[in-house]
Amino acid sequence: MADRGHFNSRLGFILAAAGSAIGLGNIWKFPFEVGNGGGAAFVIMYLLFCFILCFPVMVAEIAIGRKTQRNPVGAFKALGFKNWAIIGYLGVLAGVVILSFYNVVAGWAFGYFLEMLSSNFGIGAQFSDFIKDVTKIGLYSICFMIATAFIVSNGVAGGIERAAKILMPTLLVLILALLLYALTLPNAIEGVKFYLIPDFSKITGNVVYSALGQAFFSLSLGMGALITYGSYVERNQNIVGSGAMITLADVGIAFLAGFMMFPFVFSQGLEPNGGAGLIFVTLPGVFESLGGTIGTVVGSVFFLLLSFAALTSTVSLLEVPTSFAVDEFGTERKKTVWVVALVVFLVGIPSMLSNGSVEWLSSFVTLPGHDSAISFMDLMEDLASDTFLPIGGFLISVFAAYVWRTENLNEELAASDASIKDSFLLKYINFALRFICPAILGVIALVTVLDRFFGVSLIG
Ligand code: PFF
Repeated sequence: MADRGHFNSRLGFILAAAGSAIGLGNIWKFPFEVGNGGGAAFVIMYLLFCFILCFPVMVAEIAIGRKTQRNPVGAFKALGFKNWAIIGYLGVLAGVVILSFYNVVAGWAFGYFLEMLSSNFGIGAQFSDFIKDVTKIGLYSICFMIATAFIVSNGVAGGIERAAKILMPTLLVLILALLLYALTLPNAIEGVKFYLIPDFSKITGNVVYSALGQAFFSLSLGMGALITYGSYVERNQNIVGSGAMITLADVGIAFLAGFMMFPFVFSQGLEPNGGAGLIFVTLPGVFESLGGTIGTVVGSVFFLLLSFAALTSTVSLLEVPTSFAVDEFGTERKKTVWVVALVVFLVGIPSMLSNGSVEWLSSFVTLPGHDSAISFMDLMEDLASDTFLPIGGFLISVFAAYVWRTENLNEELAASDASIKDSFLLKYINFALRFICPAILGVIALVTVLDRFFGVSLIG
């Protein structure tokens, strides 16, 4: 087999994987999911899911990738379990679906960068018209897909690692600065209370379900993205430690992004359950309040960094179907990237049209447990992140614990550092993969499948 390439260093891998994890999911999706899910109670569920369930699954994914040095479909075949390659196929499909709508939202972020450059703070109030403007959004999304394909076609190790090293810390600093500013605003404390003081009566089946989906989505788990990235990792690198750092970085950024948003939302007298428009409606007003040039600079830098955060995620999403095609069908990498990017872009067109420009796509279907119809794009989001990813996570944990078996997993994890075998963390990972993940994810997957596909509604 041809040399598939490797990350140059452990830091390179951690940055690329953290870059995949940190993206629109943290800064755009997390705050509005918290808003829709009733605030602090959602945050707590999310944090528990990330650390208790997702971290062990993440370690298993990276280990499977590194052991086999294959894409998510090839990995299960290489371990000798052909039937389990279904996890990989589901993952490739989820990757295509997620990238198709993610690229549209990335187009919004990029468009907002341009609007901020021209000091158009009024764009917040016109958000619903902005996303209806198919020509503009189409153009921005095409630019975004081209940038993604360009990076993937040149290999992940080069530019993206270097860019992530500078851009991610800058994003963190900017979020922290905005957070401090947010806390000085009138009524900010109401936002902090909403975000940090839980009202457990707000936890319904749907809240648990979306907090779980959000945890998987945010950590790029359950669809083989980390099997793919793990396949570019050298055997002397410590997977457990890297996984812990990736999880902490991702959860940390999401937590801070929420902490920044709700004081802004409450100080502007807006409703926290504003949905997908939350950051796009709220933040332009905030940047305007900073005044003239400062507002323009902070606003454009913020949306530029958000676009970059999205880019390191779209790169990993495109990498999954690409590595699948290259490994399994022996196609040429550069050509494959562009063909896959084109297909995904086309798949994304209905999502792009479903934000007000085409009526039937905009109120496409009413799901059980919801009172109103959701758009085609929301359906894709719901299906892919809240349904496919946790099911993928369930299957991966069962596979790692009972099919491949924890002895082999531990062998792979100890390859870089034998002392890991006696560590508490490894014992926990084993226990979680054997019992906690299959039980909790299995129950939720079952409820979800009954609910979504058979209309038997057990969640309220
Ligand atoms: N984790 C990314 C985010 O939070 O924006 C989204 C994502 C990337 C999901 C890659 C899944 C994936 F494989």
